[in-house]
Amino acid sequence: MAANQEQTTPVSTSVHSSSNGTCPSERCRYPHCDISPETVMCRSLLPAFNKLDVANSVKEAAAKLQTYDKVYKTEKIVSKTIFGTLRIAIQRKTGKHYAIKQFDKTLMKRKRTLCGVAVRENFDVEFKLMNWLRQHPHAGLIAASPENEQVEDLRHKYIVMPLASEGDLLSFIRNDNGKISEDTVRDIFLQLISALQHLHEKGGYIHGDVSPENILLSYDEAGNLRVRLCDYGLARKIGSRHYHAGKKSYMPPELFSNESRNAEPTSDIFSLAVVMFLLYYGIPPFTTAQQSDVYYESLEQKHHYSASSYSPWLLAWGVSKKRSKWALLPTVLSMLRRKPNKRPTLSSIKIIVEGWKQWY
Ligand SMILES: Nc1ncnc2c1ncn2[C@@H]1O[C@H](COP(=O)(O)OP(=O)(O)O)[C@@H](O)[C@H]1O
Ligand SMILES: [Mg+2]
Repeated sequence: MAANQEQTTPVSTSVHSSSNGTCPSERCRYPHCDISPETVMCRSLLPAFNKLDVANSVKEAAAKLQTYDKVYKTEKIVSKTIFGTLRIAIQRKTGKHYAIKQFDKTLMKRKRTLCGVAVRENFDVEFKLMNWLRQHPHAGLIAASPENEQVEDLRHKYIVMPLASEGDLLSFIRNDNGKISEDTVRDIFLQLISALQHLHEKGGYIHGDVSPENILLSYDEAGNLRVRLCDYGLARKIGSRHYHAGKKSYMPPELFSNESRNAEPTSDIFSLAVVMFLLYYGIPPFTTAQQSDVYYESLEQKHHYSASSYSPWLLAWGVSKKRSKWALLPTVLSMLRRKPNKRPTLSSIKIIVEGWKQWY
């Protein structure tokens, strides 16, 4: 009897109403259920009741959620993302526009796309950094909107953020076609250096996916062009393990090797150089920074990352004489060096880019 009591006493809820003191459940295998019919719940039914409690609490939680449809109305789907969509939406109450990134919870859990492809994106880090940036903002890094503007529903998570009205740098480069002014390039360069310094030095993370698609454009109140990095799905804590991930055209050579390595700011510096080259010339410096790529190989073998021997090639590719002598070309080429430790640091690049005006 003592053993029986031990099995049943933790339960205090009164749910058992059998008048003859036996358990009403036909499938009950516990003869001890008759100990105290008014105060003891049959143990075999516990899991079911627990489940019911969980279901109720999920329902209650869902009722409390600020769900997407209650708060926002989709105006346009901008792009399909790995686990959902990126949409422009209007906040119903205020009529204000936002950019909202949607994540399917099931796919996030499986870490696979709808087609079953495994993904490297780490959404915990993306959410974490977006929220960290809300507390530690920087003009060059997109942050999540305030907590009371965030939404969630049973199937999806969302990141609500400010809308960058001019879209991303890739569309800008496509429209601009290599005609951007040197001043604008310098301005964008400095804004991105400052953004990466904040992320590396204050946040302790590398971005891991610096590319024109992840650089957003807008104008501030004074009409100046502002750039902001977005998409922290491939961000890595500095010093943690770094994988072969990102867009191949912007990936540094060390990420193509099979050697295990740690995440270092030098990889963002490499990707930033590719972006700046593409922005200024309208063409990429190479397809991928691999030995099989003749353009990247010749940068190392023929040109020694030197602007004077590289410029004739630019001319041969149809770049104008003036552009082939871009004052920031030596800096950009040095950022593309194969050996990560040979690349300049952000602070030394900043000094050069800031000082560039004084060379004339
Ligand atoms: N805040 C924003 N404002 C305007 N457009 C945005 C914003 N955030 C993202 N986008 C656009 O949506 C695209 C996809 O968003 P992103 O976060 O980069 O998703 P993915 O993880 O699929 O690359 C971006 O390349 C950009 O064009
Ligand atoms: Mg992206």
